[in-house]
Amino acid sequence: MCGIVGYVGTENAVPYLINGLKKLEYRGYDSSGIIVGKIEGGEPKFYLYKKAGKLSQLVGVLPKELSGSWGIGHTRWATHGMVTDLNAHPFYGNRNKVAAVHNGIIENFQQLRADLQKEGVEFSSETDSEVIPNLVEKHYSGNLLDAVQKALNEVIGTYALAITCVDEPDKIVVAKRGGPLVIGLSDNAYYIASDVNAIVGNTTRVIYLEDGDIVEVTKDGLKFPNVINNDYAKRVEEITINAHETEKCGYETYMEKEINEQPESIERAFAGRIDMENATAKMSGFEDDIFKRTKKICCMSAGTSWYASYEGCLLFEQIARIFAYTEFSSELRYKNPLVGEDDVYLAVSQSGETADTIYAMKEIQEKGGKVFGICNVVSSTIARQSNGGAFIHAGPEIAVASTKAFSNTLIIFYLLALKFARQRGMSKEDGLKFIKQIMQQPRLVKETLMNREKIHAVAKKYCGAKDFLFLGRGLMYPIALEGALKLKEISYIHAEAFAAGEIKHGPIAMVNENAPSVFLVPDDYLREKVISNIKEIKARKGPVIAIGVEGDTELEAIVDDFIAVPKVENPVFYAIPMVAVCQLFAFYCARELGKDVDQPRNLAKSVTVE
Ligand code: M6R
Repeated sequence: MCGIVGYVGTENAVPYLINGLKKLEYRGYDSSGIIVGKIEGGEPKFYLYKKAGKLSQLVGVLPKELSGSWGIGHTRWATHGMVTDLNAHPFYGNRNKVAAVHNGIIENFQQLRADLQKEGVEFSSETDSEVIPNLVEKHYSGNLLDAVQKALNEVIGTYALAITCVDEPDKIVVAKRGGPLVIGLSDNAYYIASDVNAIVGNTTRVIYLEDGDIVEVTKDGLKFPNVINNDYAKRVEEITINAHETEKCGYETYMEKEINEQPESIERAFAGRIDMENATAKMSGFEDDIFKRTKKICCMSAGTSWYASYEGCLLFEQIARIFAYTEFSSELRYKNPLVGEDDVYLAVSQSGETADTIYAMKEIQEKGGKVFGICNVVSSTIARQSNGGAFIHAGPEIAVASTKAFSNTLIIFYLLALKFARQRGMSKEDGLKFIKQIMQQPRLVKETLMNREKIHAVAKKYCGAKDFLFLGRGLMYPIALEGALKLKEISYIHAEAFAAGEIKHGPIAMVNENAPSVFLVPDDYLREKVISNIKEIKARKGPVIAIGVEGDTELEAIVDDFIAVPKVENPVFYAIPMVAVCQLFAFYCARELGKDVDQPRNLAKSVTVE
C-alpha cells in the first residue's frame, strides 16, 4: 500500500508531486505529505508538509508560493501507527538532513529502532518507516547513494523508498524490494512513482524498477550501481497509456465510469483471442500442451479476484469437465501446498501487486509449479514474475471497488474454459455457439446497464436497511459473494452472501421485515430450487429483490422488486450481466447514503502488504 512520488528537474516539483499523489490516492488516503528542496541564498533548503486525512487536507495547508526543483511525496495506508499528522510521511532523520518516504513493511524495525535509540536517536512517530532516514543519516558521510546502500544492508522487509538529503540538492535515491516503483525519463526531468499512471502525461519513457535496484536520480541522469557500466538504456520502455483513460470523463466518480465502461472493456478482453476456424480461443500466453495435459487447475487470489476465480473454477468444471479449485492467496502461501506436475496454477489479480498473491505464486514456483498470471496491470509484479498468462485488458481501474476487472477476468475464464473444453470433447459446433455467446456479452451488459433507473429506484427504497443477504446457487453463488462485497465496501451496510440452499441451515435466522434478500435467479436448472428458497424467505416476511431474466413473470409476481437482465441462450452467461446489476445497486446505495464511493474508509486499491 501507500503511494510514492518524486521529481528532479528544471521546473517546479510541486505540481507533479500533488498531481502524482492524486493519481496514487487509490493506494491509500489516510494521510499525505511532501518535501521539496530548493536553493535559497546559495543554500539548499527543505520544506516539509504533511497532514492526516485525504490529499485535499494537505493541499489546504501548502503555501501558494511553495516551489522547489526536487521533492518527494507520499500517500499513506496505515499499517504501523494511527492515522495522525505525526505518522504521515515524509520522515526526517533526527538531524533533519535526510528525508524519506516508504511503501512496505520494515520487519526488523523494532530492533533497528531500539539500536538507534541507544545511539541517542529520538523518534517522533509510531511507524516502522521512520528508522529509514535515521539509518541513512547514521551512515551518511557525504554520499547519499552510499549511505542508502549501507542502511538497506541492515533492513529486513519490503520497501519502495525515495530518499533525499539536504546536503545533496537535486538528488533522490530510490530503492525497491517488494513494492512497485517506476522512473519516468524526459529531457528535462525525472519522475518517480509507485504506479505509471502518476507519470502518464509527463513522459512516455519509463523504467520499471526490479527488486534489488537502488538508483541515484539527478537532473543529469540516473546511476544504477547494480547495472554493469550503468547501461540502463535497454531497460527503458515506451508506455502507451492515454492520460484520458485515467480521467473521470464527465462522471462524478471513477466507479460509475468504470461500471459503464464495461461493454467496451469486455470487448477488449476477447479481442484477438477468438479462433473461429477451429472454434476455440487463442491464448498465446499459455503453452499449448497444458490444455491437453492438465488434470487440475488451482486459482490463487484475494477479494473480488477471488470471487472471479471461484466463478472461473465452476466454469472450468461445468464446461471443460476439469477439476478446479480456488484458494485465498493468504492461506495458500502458508499451507505447505501439494504441487502436482500436471497442475495449472493461475494467479488472478487486477493490480498484479497484491502481496498475498505474489507470495503465494512464489511458494508454488519454488515447489516446481508453473503459475500463469491473469492480471490487468501489464507492468505489474505478478505479470512479470509469472510463467505466462493473459492480460484482462480492462484499462486503468481507479475506484477502490473493483468492477470492470471482475467482468474482464470472467471473459478470460470463459475463453480458457472453451480452450480446455475443445481439447476434451466439446464439439466444433458447440464451440462456435460458445464463442457467439462470449461475443454477445458487451451487448448484454449494455442492455443491462440501461436499466439503471430501475436499479437506482430499488437502491433508494432499500438503502436504509442495516443488513442484506445476497443469495444464489451454482454459478450465481460467487456473484452473490461479489454483490455483497460491493455493497459492504462502499456503503458500509452489513451484507452476507450464501449459497441459497444453505440459508435454511442457519442464516435464515437473520430474516425479518427489515433485512432484504437479493436473489440471483437465472433461468437455469436451479431456478425452481431458488424459487423455493425465495418462498422460505417470503414466508418469514423478508423483503426479496430478485435479479432475474426478462419475461420471468412468475418470479416477478412472488418478489417485492424485480430487476431484469436480458435473456441468454446458455445460462452460464448470466454472470456478467447479473454482477453489473449488483455493482450499480451498491453504487446507488452508497451514493444515496452520501458515502465516498471511490475512496471508501479503511481500504486501498492494491494491498501491497501481507
Ligand atoms: O488487485 P487484486 O485483484 O489482486 O486485488 C485483490 C483485492 O484486494 C481486491 O479485489 C479488493 O477486494 C477490492 N477492494 C474489491 O473491490
